[in-house]
Amino acid sequence: MKLKVGLIGAGGFGNIHLSGYIKNDNCQLVAVASGTEASAKRASEKFNIPGVYWGDNWKLMLENENLDIVSICSPNYLHAEMTIKAIKHGCNILCEKPIAISHQELNSIEGVLKKSNLIYFASFQKRYNPHLPLVKTIIDNNIIGEINTVRHIFSHYGPYTSWKPLSKEKWFFNADKAGGGVLMDLGVHSIDLLRYLVGEYSKVEGYSYNTSCKDIANEDNCSVLIRFQNGVLGVITVSWCNAPSDVLEIFGKKGTMRFDLHSPDPISFNPKILKSNQNIKLYLKTRASRNSIGQHLLIDHFVRCVVNKKQERPDFNDGKRAVEFVLEAYSKKNP
Ligand SMILES: NC(=O)c1ccc[n+]([C@@H]2O[C@H](COP(=O)([O-])OP(=O)(O)OC[C@H]3O[C@@H](n4cnc5c(N)ncnc54)[C@H](OP(=O)(O)O)[C@@H]3O)[C@@H](O)[C@H]2O)c1
Repeated sequence: MKLKVGLIGAGGFGNIHLSGYIKNDNCQLVAVASGTEASAKRASEKFNIPGVYWGDNWKLMLENENLDIVSICSPNYLHAEMTIKAIKHGCNILCEKPIAISHQELNSIEGVLKKSNLIYFASFQKRYNPHLPLVKTIIDNNIIGEINTVRHIFSHYGPYTSWKPLSKEKWFFNADKAGGGVLMDLGVHSIDLLRYLVGEYSKVEGYSYNTSCKDIANEDNCSVLIRFQNGVLGVITVSWCNAPSDVLEIFGKKGTMRFDLHSPDPISFNPKILKSNQNIKLYLKTRASRNSIGQHLLIDHFVRCVVNKKQERPDFNDGKRAVEFVLEAYSKKNP
């Protein structure tokens, strides 16, 4: 029997979730809920979904539809309430990032999730870049030597310019609804990537920010200094003001690796002689194709975990650590 899937939030990213589930043979899209009737009906028609709900009726969807899976793609301030209700209805959860916007919300989700045997995935699809395992293998095999610094620069011109949210309401620029600015939006991806590559962070050591291009109360451009538990130093620079860029730099004692996530030939080394290392040659030969959409790979992984009743990552703790990172940086803002 197929898993019954429901979506909350049929906007820009919700539609990407739907196009992932519809390709998955273990799933059946049975219901969609959105803020407005128009968005809910548009998604229902496009993906042939029988159950259609709008306004506050996502709660009714949970009561009526006996769902196995709920994907949460609503504005950030609604994630926690929707997650908690869906868990109480026995649904496995795939939640968009950031998974919550306060410590209190994180604690409330954790409390109900711990009491369940449900699978929870945080939507960090950058982990599914096919080259990332190569980068991790190169780090783990000490090929560029002991790592001392990692840096991620991630930018685009922001929602409504580079990224097209579909809802009419410009909630990404409303601090109460988004929970922050660009750090809450893009920085959660950055810290998740760095945690995946070098391990857990121990603390945020510095935060500098400004609002230099958008008419908003929060940061649209910022940098964060991080210390990891193993002593590695990290720098994250995220921006809604700069041209699209998504570059990881990993500095080791024997050399530097640069990973440009936008590039078809993404991994480069300094000194170049590292490229002649037999292991690196071998790893680079095995590089995967970029044909698949990261979000769909994540959905397929999540569904496999639901089928096998086995929690894997990115899990709730990954989502939680990313939000805690942003909140720790915000706590360093000058009054
Ligand atoms: N993983 C990633 O890389 C990535 C990328 C982009 C976005 N996201 C995340 O995905 C989420 C959605 O972003 P988006 O860009 O898709 O924004 P969006 O296009 O504005 O979509 C938000 C959706 O939520 C719906 N909504 C609002 N209030 C609701 C309610 N009370 N009940 C049910 N639905 C409600 C809206 O409905 P109406 O359209 O009917 O108003 C809209 O369809 C955000 O958390 C964002 O951070 C993640």
